[in-house]
Amino acid sequence: MQPFAYNENGQLSIEELEIAPLARQHGTPLYLYSRQAIEQNWLQFDGAARFNHRCCYAVKANPNLAILNLLAKLGAGFDIVSGGELARVLEAGGSADKVIFSGTGKSREEIDYALDAGIGCFNVESTQELTRIAERAAHKQQTAPVTLRLNPDIDAETHPYITTGKKHNKFGIPNNELESLIQLCLEHPHLELRGLSCHIGSQLTSVSPFIHAFETLLQLYDELASEGIELPWLNLGGGLGVRYHKETPPAPAEYMQAIAERLGERRVKIIFEPGRSIVANAGLLIARVEYIKNNGLQNFAITNAAMNDLLRPALYQAYQPIIPLSRDNDSPLATYDVVGPICESGDFLGKDRELSITQDDLLAICGSGAYGFSMSSNYNSRCRAAEVMVDGQQSHLIRAREQQSDLWRGESMLP
Ligand code: LLP
Repeated sequence: MQPFAYNENGQLSIEELEIAPLARQHGTPLYLYSRQAIEQNWLQFDGAARFNHRCCYAVKANPNLAILNLLAKLGAGFDIVSGGELARVLEAGGSADKVIFSGTGKSREEIDYALDAGIGCFNVESTQELTRIAERAAHKQQTAPVTLRLNPDIDAETHPYITTGKKHNKFGIPNNELESLIQLCLEHPHLELRGLSCHIGSQLTSVSPFIHAFETLLQLYDELASEGIELPWLNLGGGLGVRYHKETPPAPAEYMQAIAERLGERRVKIIFEPGRSIVANAGLLIARVEYIKNNGLQNFAITNAAMNDLLRPALYQAYQPIIPLSRDNDSPLATYDVVGPICESGDFLGKDRELSITQDDLLAICGSGAYGFSMSSNYNSRCRAAEVMVDGQQSHLIRAREQQSDLWRGESMLP
């Protein structure tokens, strides 16, 4: 759902609050999220699966404790890719046994931490990783639950940087190693094979690559079942896209219906790891126009938000809509490149945008709830933005703006 709209005075509002006063109160750049939108997106996604399933929110999309806590209260599991993400889930009240640990490079320390916490499952991506998990579990006299992540060599038809299921990608277990790893899991006293998994990419806008991946998983599942090995889980990963601009991604109901049809009567539990589809459209990044400039060729709107705050446009040439907080203005309509203050020509938030704006106006960059704050950095020694969650008529600061002294925390000068 889209949680924001212009009110009768032409002011952009989120839930029941006008945004401009929030921007004045908390300063800009400011990340704003809608509790209602996050909860509705979650309930819509989870509720659309009318078969045995579990949804594990992909923490990397937005790891703020308040968001994890909201989702934990709705019964969510979590998909993590680092010890830091596990620590966040536990701090936010999530339970370790509903956590799936994905990622290609789990360290010994992370594996130990996850085993000690009672992790729900390791999603294993290589032979060496499986061996390491088995060793650590044996050392602790524990049994490690694992799923094996396949690389199904499927084109997710998305940006190359977020395509993860093609043969040349670093992800998943190569086909020719799979059978021996399944055997290893079945024979090893400290491993428990929970199932198979795959995650073919992010921002998918059609159902067919998912179905292709699911059919690959089902074929293996059926083969193993015919040998008497009934796997409890199949994990399809995340990846359902959202509408930023003109995309027309399937609704969760359409996606789940397609899965249900292929699943048939099989009793296996299906795991999903949605990230973007839960939070992307629940968040806005608010920025102020510092300067308007024309170089004789084009107009620039230089805002106080930059690629360090929101990297997606610079990294993936991603399009996110940019709209003014007030429609009630008589500034001339012109075409702008909306850019930040960082010393790189790749520092843009949007190109060729038609806007009626003037110096000091406030802008909202839409679709910023996923992979926005979570990919932000301190590049150019810029303090990271504040995050605020709106809940009806209330707003809550869920992460304070960084102070300059935070910039060098942990650093020291030579004696
Ligand atoms: N599960 C695994 C194993 C993943 O690697 C990912 C995302 C997800 C689930 C969640 O996927 P989602 O539902 O959010 O598409 N920074 C990029 C997206 C990177 C996605 C990485 N993996 C962007 O801003 O577009």
